[in-house]
Amino acid sequence: MTIKEIESKLKNELDEKRYKHSISVADEAVRLAGLYGGDKEKAYLAGLIHDCAKCLPYDKAIELAKKYGCVLDDETLACPGVVHAPIGAVVAEHEYGISDTEILDAIRYHTVARKGMTLLDKIIYLADMTEPYRDFNGVENLRKLCNEDIDLAFCEALRRSLQFNIEKGNIMHPNTLYAWNEMCIKNKHKSREENK
Ligand SMILES: [Fe+2]
Ligand SMILES: [Fe+2]
Repeated sequence: MTIKEIESKLKNELDEKRYKHSISVADEAVRLAGLYGGDKEKAYLAGLIHDCAKCLPYDKAIELAKKYGCVLDDETLACPGVVHAPIGAVVAEHEYGISDTEILDAIRYHTVARKGMTLLDKIIYLADMTEPYRDFNGVENLRKLCNEDIDLAFCEALRRSLQFNIEKGNIMHPNTLYAWNEMCIKNKHKSREENK
């Protein structure tokens, strides 16, 4: 599929707000790829398609997961807000013709992250959280960090996610904790100032 074909399919599959968010994530992902030496084409495509399964009714999404052999773990099934990521990866592969595993992984891990996040994974994770339509307490600080140090920005985003879910009494996907612990072991979670 061409980019234009993908965009018009997404326009049919997503509501207007989600479509605008997807374009915005794609643009922000390209900007971050430019800042950190990432592949801009992959960044655009991954950003564009990352929420392709977001507007599917839950039952339909689960049906597609079965159809395309996407096995969902218990923690993912217990958080309805995150299932669209792994299902989005198989939908992107089978319905949008994406075969690039880096793009598929960036889609798959854009909600809970994982240990061993690639540059593209981090770009999509952060672009999703900080694109211009996003508005939450702390988003400006996160945008600033995105411009300064992508690892620090990623750690801040993980910290936010962990704190938010614990405070709300929500289930925490283990992948988020693995990602956080890995960054702590590499000492990427502290700014240069804090490390002095
Ligand atoms: Fe999403
Ligand atoms: Fe998103």
